[in-house]
Amino acid sequence: MDIDSLKNEWEELNKEFTELENCNRRYIELLEQLHSRQQICFNEIKHQRYRMNQITASLRQFKGPVDVEVKEKVDELQKMTLKRKAQLHEIEQSLPAKSGRYLQIILGDVNVSILNRNDKVRYKDDYEKFKLILNVIGLIMAFFNLIFNYRALELAFIFLLVWYYCTLTIRESILKVNGSRIKGWWRAHHFISTVAAGVLLVWPQGEHWQIFRMQFMYFNVYISIVQYLQFGYQKGLLYRLKALGERHNMDITIEGFHSWMWRGLSFLLPFLFIGYWFQAYNAWTLYKLAFTPPDAPWHVSVMSGLFLLLFVGNMATTLWVVPEKIRERSKERYRLLSMGKSMKLRREVKQFVCTNADACWHFLSLAE
Ligand code: COA
Repeated sequence: MDIDSLKNEWEELNKEFTELENCNRRYIELLEQLHSRQQICFNEIKHQRYRMNQITASLRQFKGPVDVEVKEKVDELQKMTLKRKAQLHEIEQSLPAKSGRYLQIILGDVNVSILNRNDKVRYKDDYEKFKLILNVIGLIMAFFNLIFNYRALELAFIFLLVWYYCTLTIRESILKVNGSRIKGWWRAHHFISTVAAGVLLVWPQGEHWQIFRMQFMYFNVYISIVQYLQFGYQKGLLYRLKALGERHNMDITIEGFHSWMWRGLSFLLPFLFIGYWFQAYNAWTLYKLAFTPPDAPWHVSVMSGLFLLLFVGNMATTLWVVPEKIRERSKERYRLLSMGKSMKLRREVKQFVCTNADACWHFLSLAE
């Protein structure tokens, strides 16, 4: 190739680069607009909440005996307040949220917000799959530990537990930033489990450990099976959530979601309660072991306390979840409705943008 043709090629590349620069400029403009739109949304949400609180406070004066007509209007306003809360929560899901202190310490000041409802569902799906895979590995390792009594194998399994629970706390904190309603206890449960696995890792291999070892491995086999059942339950719910934005009639999907949830729960609960009693039994065994045989290392009593804590926390939270679900039925309905609408809107916008790339700019300028 002679030098002139190389020069020509360079000229051509130059033209393409100018296009790239233009595209990048438009992209930066959009980013700037995005930022200012986000600020407007934040302010408007704040305003909506402020006015809603004022209305709710004023509604309190109608608490006593009032006309039927007034009562109907009060009820309707209360229903609309519930619905608006769900709508505001859903709008917030498309806006960035700040990471909590824990994530900031671990990851630094990085934004972990997922701004698309469908991507949030996908991230949750990924979290459930991660738990499933690690549980299968844990089940196999616990099973081998039941057959063979090798210290290295035992330590590898316990180290896996430390890493697994630690990773769960990070993933759950990211889920929380992205609007998950996961109860504080389940997150605390995984922090406590990380500590418990850490204590097991440094528990010296003596007589006390050998007495408790088999019971601990059986417990892990059982927990892995329960967690597999939990995966089936959460996967079923996620599948129905995904269907929310795809169905024409959202009411049918919401009904399906609820009936599947209750069936899933009634199947799962007995297995969970057996697991909790197993935790209480572990606490009791370790408590006795702290006295006989003598000279028990500190790990025995600490593990006994941790198992007791897990038993009490798990039992109380699970017993609380079911009546709460019954109480908050209508709130849940509005939440699912808003979520479904937001997923549908996203899909429609995405389809529109993808089928007509040029129209993308047109669409955005219309949105101005
Ligand atoms: N771990 C992680 N996330 C959990 C969770 C858990 N144990 N329990 C509930 N969540 C999440 C849900 O997925 C949901 O997330 P979303 O807001 O992103 O959709 C949110 O928390 C609210 O869930 P909620 O409606 O309160 O409960 P649920 O119907 O999803 O699940 C149970 C209820 C009881 C089945 C569930 O909490 C559970 O499996 N608990 C047992 C956990 C346990 O005891 N583990 C140890 C085994 S011995």
